[in-house]
Amino acid sequence: MDSLGVETGVAGIRFGGSTRSIQTFALVSETLRAMVWDQGATLVAVELEDGTNLVQAPVVGDDLAATDRGYRGSTIGRYANRIANARFSLGGTDYPLDANDGLHTLHGGEIGFDQLLWRAEPLKRTGSVGVRFSVRSPDGDQGFPGNLDAAVTYWLTAANELVFEYEAVCDAPTVVAMTNHAYWNLAGQGTISEHILQVNADRFVDMDELKTPTEVRSVAGTRFDFRLPRPLSGPDFGDGYDHCLVLEPSGPAAVLMHGPSGRRMMIETDQPGLQVYTANNLQPRHCGIGLETQALPNSPNRPDFPSVVLRPGETYRQVTRHRFS
Ligand code: GAL
Repeated sequence: MDSLGVETGVAGIRFGGSTRSIQTFALVSETLRAMVWDQGATLVAVELEDGTNLVQAPVVGDDLAATDRGYRGSTIGRYANRIANARFSLGGTDYPLDANDGLHTLHGGEIGFDQLLWRAEPLKRTGSVGVRFSVRSPDGDQGFPGNLDAAVTYWLTAANELVFEYEAVCDAPTVVAMTNHAYWNLAGQGTISEHILQVNADRFVDMDELKTPTEVRSVAGTRFDFRLPRPLSGPDFGDGYDHCLVLEPSGPAAVLMHGPSGRRMMIETDQPGLQVYTANNLQPRHCGIGLETQALPNSPNRPDFPSVVLRPGETYRQVTRHRFS
């Protein structure tokens, strides 16, 4: 027998100036308590026994329909990161998308997956408890073709792991790339300045001043070289990071460490990219770090990047594991 459980509840959140009634779920183990809710299929908190919350907290109480919402903890889709010039073509058809980031489409468009109310189903299997969130994004949603049935399951395991499992199926050829947008802070407060990050990436995707992804470059000799643990402070940190690192296919993707407490989070994923975003536009600045496992940015327009095309009969899958110690 394990001591895993799911506690369910209801809450009211602010959404577009009114109150939206939502369902909350706490996945509980001996050492961790992960809180998720159906609005945006969001990871709201990951708490240690002493109450320290490892994700940047003040999502509670904010208006989650606001345009500067920061996507905190939400599930992102249909397409995480940027699609340049808010368009792509597939099978000879051009698909204009909602442009919500200057000329680009960011995180699925203005009404991305973080804005949706998902259906929720608590789950239990040997050694894990979870919640599966599912949603239908209709044909033409934000400009994307085909109906897309998407799901994400959060699992908490008896081995101190928090697992995100994504799935999607479609009824017409489309593109899909999902992620989670939690801002991690292993101190539970303040900024990430006493954190150290290691990433298994020899290359990163450079961008221009409009954040249009450009060349893939070597990290050697740059401030993007996280192959050895690198502090998230000091001159190299500059204004912070907001870049996609190209993950090497084997080994853990990343390890985040907090020096003073010795807390560590290791990430494993089957995705090719890791967007490292140090909450540069949040208040307080650098209050957390997004480690968003995902497809490479602008892949729908980049035949040189791994394909993000999903066709009827296929299933999009992603698994990302976070291990705490
Ligand atoms: C990140 C993205 C940033 C910023 C942020 C949301 O994933 O890389 O440029 O848009 O989301 O505030």
